[in-house]
Amino acid sequence: MLFLKFILVIFSLHHCISADEFRILIMMPSIPAVPFNSLRVGPGALIAVDKINDDPTLLAGHNITYDILDTLCDGVNTLGKTVDLITDRTYAAFIGPLCSTVCRLTARLAVYYNLPTFSSICTDNEMLNKDEFTTLVRTYGPQFKLGNFFRSICDAFNWKIISVINDDFVIWKVPMAGIISAVQDANFTISYHYEGNFEDEQIVDILTEAVRFSRIIVFGMKGEIVRQFMIAANRMGLINGEYAFLCIWHYEDLVAFGDFSWDQSDEEENTLVKEAYEALLFLADLEPDTDEFVEFSHEVKSRTASEFGYTYAEDEKISLLVGAMHDSVYLYAVALNETLAENKSAYDGLTIARRMYDRIDLPGVMQMTLDANGDMDADYMLNDMQYNNDGEFK
Ligand SMILES: *[C@@H]1O[C@H](CO)[C@@H](O)[C@H](O)[C@H]1NC(C)=O
Ligand SMILES: *[C@@H]1O[C@H](CO)[C@@H](O)[C@H](O)[C@H]1NC(C)=O
Ligand SMILES: *[C@@H]1O[C@H](CO)[C@@H](O)[C@H](O)[C@H]1NC(C)=O
Ligand SMILES: *[C@@H]1O[C@H](CO)[C@@H](O)[C@H](O)[C@H]1NC(C)=O
Repeated sequence: MLFLKFILVIFSLHHCISADEFRILIMMPSIPAVPFNSLRVGPGALIAVDKINDDPTLLAGHNITYDILDTLCDGVNTLGKTVDLITDRTYAAFIGPLCSTVCRLTARLAVYYNLPTFSSICTDNEMLNKDEFTTLVRTYGPQFKLGNFFRSICDAFNWKIISVINDDFVIWKVPMAGIISAVQDANFTISYHYEGNFEDEQIVDILTEAVRFSRIIVFGMKGEIVRQFMIAANRMGLINGEYAFLCIWHYEDLVAFGDFSWDQSDEEENTLVKEAYEALLFLADLEPDTDEFVEFSHEVKSRTASEFGYTYAEDEKISLLVGAMHDSVYLYAVALNETLAENKSAYDGLTIARRMYDRIDLPGVMQMTLDANGDMDADYMLNDMQYNNDGEFK
């Protein structure tokens, strides 16, 4: 009996570390309100897995298999479930988990097991420290890079005193924290910071405080609320060329970031918005401008409809985060492929992760550059409003 148990243990160990199969744990949240929810980014990961397994020149003789864990952006439960899973089966890498609140836990766990973590959203400054997060690769611009971009704008226009107004939901709070910390590092002054929710009657009060000592106002909130602020700004006479308004926008995603179009209410308000938008600038992600990304977008849309039950609108764009999710999986496979070619251990997470540090124009749909710290070098742009022929915001 004992002997049989022994055989079973050996067999299952052998089975787990079979050379044919590298199992990855894909962790993402199913929360609809976050733009990186599994419905949106999941197809990116699955497309990458298929691409890898169908490519005879990538991991030849091996396959990637996967389990999916819904994190719900909940640190405690995800950490516990990950430990449960890891006790049961052998994983070669963690992909995700996408929320910094979870990433700070599972990326540390990955270090303990010497597994690589390839995660896009894991953007808090805490995860900059790769002496601690030794096996972490971040495939989406961490928040401090947006902060540095904002700081370079401040330098260019010689802005030194800034007011900040943001929603306290994580998708606004986190990038704004990056901006605030970059501004503070530069010894600029934040003369006013409001973080919370917005009722209509509060908007005027908040704006009044914001412009008391500063002529530069940065918003991090949904489009509909930015619009309310700009109406208020116009009514308060602030659209006179003396004040600059900026907002974090990232990219077009009506569900996550809201609707910024001017044409949403009665004629009087619409006119106020249109005028006020002359003074508004958008901090946006620069999207890849390649045929490969266009082709990828089509594939994402078709798989999202057939496998995830969501149909993109005709003119709706997929987000960069889907590309970042795809490349998390794909770049892991490239790193593994290189490691195997050198006859090194496929389970040495440190070596695999570090292989991707300090590399330019990596393969994958984003063609990303990862800096010497293993973080994506994101490109940003500053946009003003442009309207198409129908008067719609572009
Ligand atoms: C994977 O590694 C093999 C062996 O080094 C190499 O020939 C192949 O080009 C690599 N595949 C990719 C897609 O990088
Ligand atoms: C890998 O997956 C592909 C496609 O799913 C399959 O055709 C192939 O037999 C698998 N190879 C191995 C080594 O398991
Ligand atoms: C900000 O101020 C601190 C303390 O005065 C100083 O050490 C630092 O060099 C300053 N940073 C910049 C970017 O000017
Ligand atoms: C890896 O091992 C194979 C088979 O033993 C050998 O042919 C190859 O030269 C080795 N590659 C490296 C980079 O050491």
